[in-house]
Amino acid sequence: METLDVAMTSAPRRAVAAEWDARVESWRSTCAGPAFLRFRDRALDAAALRATDRVLDVGCGTGLLALAAAGLADSVVALDVSPRMLLEVQSAADARGLRNLSVVCADAAQLPLASDGMDCVMSSYALHHLDHRAKLAALAEARRVLRPGGRLVVVDMMFSLSMRAQDRAIILGKARQILRKGPSGAVRLVRNAVRIGSGRWEHPAPRDWWLDAATMMGFTDVVVVPLEQEAGMLTAVRPE
Ligand SMILES: C[S@@+](CC[C@H](N)C(=O)[O-])C[C@H]1O[C@@H](n2cnc3c(N)ncnc32)[C@H](O)[C@@H]1O
Repeated sequence: METLDVAMTSAPRRAVAAEWDARVESWRSTCAGPAFLRFRDRALDAAALRATDRVLDVGCGTGLLALAAAGLADSVVALDVSPRMLLEVQSAADARGLRNLSVVCADAAQLPLASDGMDCVMSSYALHHLDHRAKLAALAEARRVLRPGGRLVVVDMMFSLSMRAQDRAIILGKARQILRKGPSGAVRLVRNAVRIGSGRWEHPAPRDWWLDAATMMGFTDVVVVPLEQEAGMLTAVRPE
């Protein structure tokens, strides 16, 4: 855990870290659900990791991607803003005897990592927590730390709160899915509506935003595909 002392300098970042520190247990069970396991497998298929690959997982949480990647690649850096998430990943790696995983506590938009050092940068369900400007910074940082020819794989919720048919279908589908959980689902829906109304909701971006953003940030071979529910997957390459 030598890298956990990376300075948590800004107050907003400390607040985000504290929020996620408090969510380790609930996130551990959420990402053990079948949909997240399918997202993990789709991301790993797209990454096509080789035994020599150096991998970065941005916003690793409890290690959904990082732990699986560590079984396939040469080395994995699991990066998150939450120290408690990182403790969880490190102890899971230790329990599995994965000695090629290290943790870094940092912001996705400001990576304390050398340029050109990664063969693959991955991220799952983390970047929609960043506003669009920070997402662009995170993409620029991903490009910087990738070696020429390195691959980017991002799975995330990809839609916006718009009236476009594509977004409307995703939002209605999601609302129906939440309501199927009964009264607790209804409470969650109301809570989400309040958070949206007060501007405290997350910042998902639609698939066309990701396509444009990755292209603008200098990636090539940019492809964005829908997965199930609200999820989509971006794959791209840092040009040689
Ligand atoms: C919804 S969880 C997803 C975790 C994991 N990637 C997965 O798919 O299970 C989001 C994670 O992103 C992290 N996160 C949020 N904002 C971040 C930021 N600005 N920089 C780095 N990590 C961040 C949170 O601490 C949390 O662990």
